[in-house]
Amino acid sequence: MSKTVLATGGAGYIGSHVVLALLNAGYRVVVFDNLSNSSPKAIERVARISNGAPVLVEGDVRDAGALDTLFENHKIDAVIHLAGLKAVGESVARPGLYYDVNVAGSSQLLNAMLRHGVSRMVFSSSATVYGETGGRPMDENTPTGPVNPYGKTKLMVEQILTDMTAASSGWRSVVLRYFNPVAAHGSGEIGEDPLGVPDNLFPFIAQVATGRRAQLDIFGNDYDTPDGTAIRDYIHVEDLARGHVMAIEHLFSGQAADNRTSVVNLGTGQGSSVREVHRAWEAACGFDIATRNAPRRAGDVAIICAEPGKAADLLGWRAKYDLARMCADHWRWQKRNPEGYR
Ligand code: NAD
Ligand code: WQD
Repeated sequence: MSKTVLATGGAGYIGSHVVLALLNAGYRVVVFDNLSNSSPKAIERVARISNGAPVLVEGDVRDAGALDTLFENHKIDAVIHLAGLKAVGESVARPGLYYDVNVAGSSQLLNAMLRHGVSRMVFSSSATVYGETGGRPMDENTPTGPVNPYGKTKLMVEQILTDMTAASSGWRSVVLRYFNPVAAHGSGEIGEDPLGVPDNLFPFIAQVATGRRAQLDIFGNDYDTPDGTAIRDYIHVEDLARGHVMAIEHLFSGQAADNRTSVVNLGTGQGSSVREVHRAWEAACGFDIATRNAPRRAGDVAIICAEPGKAADLLGWRAKYDLARMCADHWRWQKRNPEGYR
């Protein structure tokens, strides 16, 4: 009998790719999502291109009653907890909302798992929990030091999960710290669909490429990097999704220990500057994409890059896709769906 994985936030950008990868690996999948930042169409498309159909349950992770009903109606073997809010700027403006959804919501979910005897969790965390390293690659022992409420919520949930895993019989968990997830599934059927003006580099360039925005503002060209623009470790969302399947497999294997939380970076270990990303996009599209130099964005640092060795050692995971593939796949999705799922 195949195992059933609950994916909270499974209708979202990363979640939809994780759900697809789980189905294709033979898992049954239940998605729990309040659709506050996603569309049920993502789930319909996943069903169309996968080996199976996910079950979508609409609900909020802060709602203990809805969680009890969910666990009563479905026999869940493990949870991948992706649901949450992720906009750094919004978290500064509305910290109460972020602590409520991300921290209180995660605590509700973990307590519901305890009530219903579900003892495996993979949690979506972020490289944003790390403090400044002056550009050195970040491994899992790099000291934490998030500087905005969003990053603080992620670190708090890691701590709650670690404590509950240590204290609860048979519990095992993995924290995945993502670097910069980008791109879309190679089918062009699912991808990132931001509401309003995109905050992030890839979705912004994608909208310039379709003509929806006039040009890309390059935030800062005087960083201490070879071309003066900031460097990030971009990771293809399909590589990221595969990492979740491997984390789930690890939790069910003899290698994972009870009462232990493993923290694992998911990044490529390869940094790219904003100018390199821009050039790779032009190559993927086959036409010029207008840019303009703009001041540095508040809160940005010069270089953020993963040391990804632990993911290889513990999970057997390595990123496969390079920057050219990331741009080609993101562009395919955007070209076919210029208005996203709308
Ligand atoms: P997303 O907004 O596309 O997906 C999040 C999903 O959670 C959405 O479908 C949304 O409707 C749902 N959701 C939000 N609040 C909810 C609630 N209270 N109850 C139930 N569902 C709720 O974002 P994403 O980019 O797919 O991110 C998924 C996870 O990965 C998030 O936890 C995010 O913090 C984390 N993460 C994202 C990035 C990134 O750059 N995209 C990087 C690191 C970590
Ligand atoms: C990348 C680079 C910008 C837009 C964010 C979150 C982080 C994590 C991943 C969730 C930077 C530059 C961007 C633009 C630009 N999310 N840029 N023009 O800031 O590294 O990380 O997403 O956990 O917490 O902070 O990603 O894509 O916004 O920016 O020049 O219009 O592109 O300055 O150097 P970031 P990003």
